[in-house]
Parts: sequence; structure tokens; C-alpha cells
Amino acid sequence: MLDQIRQKALKQIEAESDLKNLEAIYRQYLGKKGELTLVLRSLKQMSEKQRKQKGKLANQVKKEIKQALKEKQEKGIKQAKVSKEWIDVTAPGVLPPQGHLNPITLVQRQAEEIFQSMGFSILDGPEIETEYYNFDALNIPENHPARDLWDTFWLKNLDLILRTHTSPMQARYMEKNSPPLRIIVPGRCFRHEATDASHNFQFHQIEGLMVGTNISVTNFKGIIEEFLKKFFSPDVEMRLRPGYFPFVEPGFEIDIKRKDRDWLEIMGAGMVHPNVFKSAGYKPGKWQGFAFGVGIDRLAMLKYGINDIRLFYGNDLRFLRQF
Ligand code: FA5
Repeated sequence: MLDQIRQKALKQIEAESDLKNLEAIYRQYLGKKGELTLVLRSLKQMSEKQRKQKGKLANQVKKEIKQALKEKQEKGIKQAKVSKEWIDVTAPGVLPPQGHLNPITLVQRQAEEIFQSMGFSILDGPEIETEYYNFDALNIPENHPARDLWDTFWLKNLDLILRTHTSPMQARYMEKNSPPLRIIVPGRCFRHEATDASHNFQFHQIEGLMVGTNISVTNFKGIIEEFLKKFFSPDVEMRLRPGYFPFVEPGFEIDIKRKDRDWLEIMGAGMVHPNVFKSAGYKPGKWQGFAFGVGIDRLAMLKYGINDIRLFYGNDLRFLRQF
């Protein structure tokens, strides 16, 4: 009988593939009312000789069953671990999803490359500005009506603003550097104005500044035409109109012809006003130069045929995945 129990138990343990069932097998044989437990208990009623003989065998069977259960369990745990941690090193790799650059950044980098190829250095400037650099140093004194041109976000209780254009970097740079100079300053600008298809309350500009002893409007036209041809295509149509900005004299506005549509203004520009040179501490009459501020968002709209500036800021993946 003990032999039968042993064989049955060992077979059962051997065949069991689910670790959770090993406990039930333990109970079946070695639990309170287990088959082997009952045999062991019945030893009491036996003669001493029988008890010795059977007891020895029963304990041996108990040991074997316990050992088999233990081995099975250890093997099972090991197997579960291996199958969980196994990786097929020969399988093809899976590329994690990757983001990409916003069209505004793509356009900014492309413009930077073109200006760099024409000898311009690239600079960065603060988005939070003082009134002085955003206005005063640019020949826009307090109460000057031109301050209304730039609807401004004021920072509460601080004498600071969000820059309305990248032009403050003209003043910051000239204060610390002497001509001749050629710089561009790409960056974000902010205006407290109603949004529409071509205006947003935040947008991007690239400021350009070139100063020397002999720089004229012709140089400005040459540089800008070269830029636009390289950026769009050699047959790009541009238009230069007179424009007013207190920090230039004369001032211009530049439009680009849209395919089968009207013109779109992309930039303000002009010859640097003597008062701006004066604020920077330059010797009067010695230097001449031009400056411009081109809208990156508008360049991107023209380049990709996008009809609403707000798409750049909507984070709609259906839009962004196209670039
Ligand atoms: C200026 O901001 C001047 N600082 C430009 C300048 C620089 C003139 C140097 C002279 C010398 P304006 O406000 O026109 O000018 O803006 C310049 C360009 O920024 C616009 O042509 C347009 O492309 C872009 N821009 C202006 N406001 C917005 C807006 N709300 N949303 C999107 N783009 C804008």
C-alpha cells in the first residue's frame, strides 16, 4: 500500500505542470487527512514489530514525496523566470517611436544656414525684456505713438515685458560690440493681439543686422534677395514697400507673392536710425547699416502652403506628421 501511494504521488508530481497545484498534491498526501498521514497515524494501533517496519517505510515515502515536491517547485520557478526573461537576440529590432522637429524649427534652421553662408553669426536673446531695450533704445520713447504698434504683454509688478520683436537684440549687441558686424537673432516674440489666420499672440522672428562704414540699401536688397531665392526658389516674387519703424530711416516692408493668391507681408526692415547708433554709443555719422525682422511663421506658411498660422501651435499630430 505504501508503495502504491509513493508511485501514485510521484507520478502525479511529475505530470503536474502548474506550480499552483503542487500545494493541493501536498495536501492530498501529507495534509491533515492526507493519504500518507492516515497511514502514519494508523501505526499506533499496530504491534511494535509492524510499527517499526512500516514506520520506517512510511517515513521514507514521506521524505521522497516532500523531496519530489520541492524539486518540482524549484524547477518550475526557474523555468518561469527563464521564459519571462528570455529574449530572442536574432529577432529584428523594434524602433521606439521618435518625434521630429516642428516646421517652425525646420524653417528657422534652414534660414540660419543660409545667413551663415553669407557671413552672419547667430545669436540668442532674452524673451523677457526691459522696456528700455524693447522700446527706448530703439528710438521709441515713452508716449511715442509707435508704442501702440506693439501690443505688449506686461509682467505684473515687475518692470519687465515679453519682447514684442527681436529688435532689442540690435541694441544689446551694439552696446557691447563694434562694427563691422553681421548678426542674425532668431527667437520667439509675443504680442497681445487678436489671432487670425496670419497673426498669433506668439510667433517667431529672425532679426538681422549688418553694420559697416559703407552699407547701403543696395546691400540690404542683395542680401535679402539672395536669402529669399535660396529659401524659396530662384523665381520667388518679392515686393519692397515703404514702411514706418522708428528705429530705421528709411523703412520698408517686404511682401512675397503667394501662388495664385495675394501678397503676404513677411518682414519689416530699413537703414538703422542714427538715434539707435547713438544709444549704442557709436560715434555719430561714422557707421551705416541695415536691419530687418522677418517672421519665421510666415516663411513656413509660404514654404509649405499652410493657410493658418495657428496650426503650428495646435499640436495636432495629423498636421505635424506631414513634416
Ligand atoms: C517688427 O517687429 C520690426 N521689429 C521689424 C523690423 C526690424 C523693422 C528691424 C525694421 C528693422 P513687424 O511688426 O512688422 O515689425 O513684424 C515683422 C514681421 O513679424 C511681420 O512681417 C510678420 O512676418 C511677423 N509678425 C508680426 N506680428 C506677427 C503676429 N502676430 N503673428 C505672426 N507673425 C507676426
